Amino acid sequence: MHHFTSRDGVLHCEDVSLETIAAEVGTPVYVYSTATLTRHWGVFTGALKDAGLDATVCFATKANGNVAVLRTLADLGAGADVVSGGELFVARHAGVPADRIVFSGVGKTRDELAYALDEGIFQINVESKSELEMLDAVAREKGVKAPIAIRINPDVEAGTHEKITTGKFDNKFGIAWTQAHALYRKAAGMDGIAVKAIAMHIGSQIADLSPFDAAFGRMRDLLAILRRDGIEIERLDIGGGLGVPYDREGDPTPMPPADYARVIARNLGDLGCRLVLEPGRLITANAGVLLSRVVHRKEGATRSFLICDAGMNDLARPAMYDAFHAIEPVRAPAPGVENEHVDVVGPICESSDVFGKQRALPPMQAGDLLVFRTAGAYGATMSNMYNGRPLVPEVLVKDGEYAVVRRRPTWQEMIALESPAPWQG
Ligand code: LLP
Repeated sequence: MHHFTSRDGVLHCEDVSLETIAAEVGTPVYVYSTATLTRHWGVFTGALKDAGLDATVCFATKANGNVAVLRTLADLGAGADVVSGGELFVARHAGVPADRIVFSGVGKTRDELAYALDEGIFQINVESKSELEMLDAVAREKGVKAPIAIRINPDVEAGTHEKITTGKFDNKFGIAWTQAHALYRKAAGMDGIAVKAIAMHIGSQIADLSPFDAAFGRMRDLLAILRRDGIEIERLDIGGGLGVPYDREGDPTPMPPADYARVIARNLGDLGCRLVLEPGRLITANAGVLLSRVVHRKEGATRSFLICDAGMNDLARPAMYDAFHAIEPVRAPAPGVENEHVDVVGPICESSDVFGKQRALPPMQAGDLLVFRTAGAYGATMSNMYNGRPLVPEVLVKDGEYAVVRRRPTWQEMIALESPAPWQG
């Protein structure tokens, strides 16, 4: 459910017309709904509560790292899952307390680990022996104990896109569950390490419950082994990954949070462990759209093209994963106007800069506005300045108000970090 609906034929975000935002802020621009963020947060945490689960929910910052979005979630009680010193900085800046922040990722550096310890972070999810040894050394230098989970790789097929599958042995993520016991033993004997948890994350946009079932089973087994060995585990971090509907015909409908919560409760609810969850997409995807204007309409030899002012640099998912985003005109067509089939593309000089091929849309012309839906997760965070295009701005709506929460950089700002080499005068 979301709060982007048509009123008098014009798409609104809550009570604000997208035509107003386009006119006042310019396009392309990401637009987020506070009401949708709040609702998704409530549905997800409510489902966990209803299933009797005691959980800390850490929003995966990589899905949407905008400070105002993070602040909205932090005010609702969210923690954060971060994957770099930069994300940790943003989360702290947005007001997420350090004791609700989990640090994931395979390539944490010594400096990032030191920063996390200085902040008093809740949990560091260790992904290799090398990282464990580095963390132990950093913590000992500081005279502290680093609270850790070891992220296990349960070797399960998540049934999602290959590029967002993370829980197979061929993936770089986690410690093979078959090797985890040995690493826990090592960790338990280290002066700079406090073993707290087992972690996992098997992939993203998962529509089906069975991969979770399989992975939770592995977690349960490992917990029993560790407990037999006298290694105390207080909590289980089960990552994120729950899929959302992108509204493509034929796609499986992802399970609702209540079903997911029941599977968690059935597998992990009776183990005396607190749960940690790291949802990203589920919280923000349908809380955002990318609003764009058609710059040109072109009649090709075999098809028509709508060339938009948003490109693959602003929303990379279609080009990277062949991802589907529903495309809708901001102004509803007059009654009786028939759809046509067009290719919706961006201005970037790459053939992969295509948002949708042969999409059924009412006839649109240069100057018309459209939205790419379900763009609130992995949209702005994955944007870049390819082809000399400044980063896309972001707007947060609340009821009848909106605020520009990341403004569009100027061209001067786009090159502000660059300079000629000294020998170039
Ligand atoms: N925890 C960890 C350790 C993760 O690696 C991720 C996502 C999450 C949590 C959140 O997963 P979610 O609930 O959002 O599925 N750029 C891709 C998605 C990459 C996901 C990477 N990890 C996309 O646009 O589809």
